[in-house]
Amino acid sequence: MKAKIVILPGDGIGTEVVEGATAVLHTIAQKFGHTFETEEQLIGGCAIDAEGTALPEATVTACQSADAVLLGAVGGTKWDDPNAKVRPEQGLLGIRKAMGLFANLRPVKLYPALADASPLRRDKLDGVDILVVRELTGGIYFGERERWTDENGEEWGKDTMLYSASEVRRIADIAFKAAQGRRGKVASIDKANVLDSSRLWRKTVVALAEEYPDVELEHVLVDAATMHLLSRPSSFDVMVAGNMFGDIVTDEASMLTGSMGNLPSAALGSALNSHGLPRGMYEPIHGSAPDIAGMGIANPVGMIMSLAMMLRHSLGLEEEAMLVETAVAQAINDGHRTGDLARDGEKALSTEEMTAVILQNLEN
Ligand code: IPM
Ligand code: MG
Repeated sequence: MKAKIVILPGDGIGTEVVEGATAVLHTIAQKFGHTFETEEQLIGGCAIDAEGTALPEATVTACQSADAVLLGAVGGTKWDDPNAKVRPEQGLLGIRKAMGLFANLRPVKLYPALADASPLRRDKLDGVDILVVRELTGGIYFGERERWTDENGEEWGKDTMLYSASEVRRIADIAFKAAQGRRGKVASIDKANVLDSSRLWRKTVVALAEEYPDVELEHVLVDAATMHLLSRPSSFDVMVAGNMFGDIVTDEASMLTGSMGNLPSAALGSALNSHGLPRGMYEPIHGSAPDIAGMGIANPVGMIMSLAMMLRHSLGLEEEAMLVETAVAQAINDGHRTGDLARDGEKALSTEEMTAVILQNLEN
C-alpha cells in the first residue's frame, strides 16, 4: 500500500518520541512492502518561533491532504507567558478543528507486568480495560473567551461551555458503537446537577440510548467519575465525555497503567482519506514534558501505540497494527522500562534504547 503521512513532531519530548515512531513506521514499511511517504510540518511552539503562528497554513494544507497525521506534543516553558497572544496549544486545537476531528479515542489498557508501577493496589487493577471517547472540537476549549479589567481595576477572565445536541449525538454514537464491540457498557460523564450544557448532554445521550438497547448506560457526574476511576476502575468499559471532562479523566485514568507516557490516542472525524478510511490524527495523550525535554529519556510507548492505532484506523493495516502492539507489550513484559516506569533497582532505558528493543521485537 501507498500512503502519505504528515508528521508533526511539535515541541519538547514530542520530537523525541516521534523519532521512535518514525523508526517503527519505516520498519513496518520495509517488512510488509508498503510505501509510506512522510512529510514533516511545524506546529506549536516551534511554529511560533519560525512563523509567528502556532498553526502555519502549510501545516493545515498538508494535513488536509494526508492519509493520516502523527503528532508528538506541543508546548513548553518558553511560550508559557500567560499574557502571550500566540500559544502552542492553539496549534493543536486549531488542527483538530481544521481537520474536523471531533472524536478522540483514548484506550486505557493495562500491561500485567506494569501492575506494580501503578499507584493503585494490584487487586484494584484486575480487568481494567477502558476506552475513553472524548469530544474534541467543541465545549469549553472552543467557546468564546475574554479577558478584561473592570472600572474598579478588577481583572476578569471568561470561558464558555457550549454544546449542540448534534455535537453530543455524534460523539455519543461513537461511544455506543464502540461499546457494542466491547463489553456493552457506556458511562456518560457530565455535570448535569449544575451545568445546562451537561443537562442537554444527558438528555441527548438518553434519547440516543434507545437505539442501542443492547448497551447498558450509566450516567456519572464528573467529580464522582474521578473517584470511581480509583475505587472501581474495572467496572468501566466505554466512558464518553465532553472535551474538558475527557481531558481530565484520561490523565487520571492513564495512571492506572503506571504512567501517562503509555497512553495513545486517535482523533477521528468524518473526512475520509485516499483509502476511504478516516483521515485521523494520532498522538500520545501526554504533553511536551518540559521537565525532561531534551534529555532523551521520554517513554515512547504512547507515541508508538498511537502509530499502531494509525495503521489500524486510517490505513486498515490490522496485522501491522497488532504486530506493533505485540512488540511493545513484549518489550514491557520482558522488563524493559523507561524512567517513568522503572522502580528502585530497575534499569531505566533511554527513549532510543526503548525504541531499539521494540524495533528488535518487530524484526523477530
Ligand atoms: C491533550 C492535551 C491538550 C488538550 C493540550 C495540550 C491543549 O492536554 O491532548 O490531552 O487539552 O487537548
Ligand atoms: Mg490532556
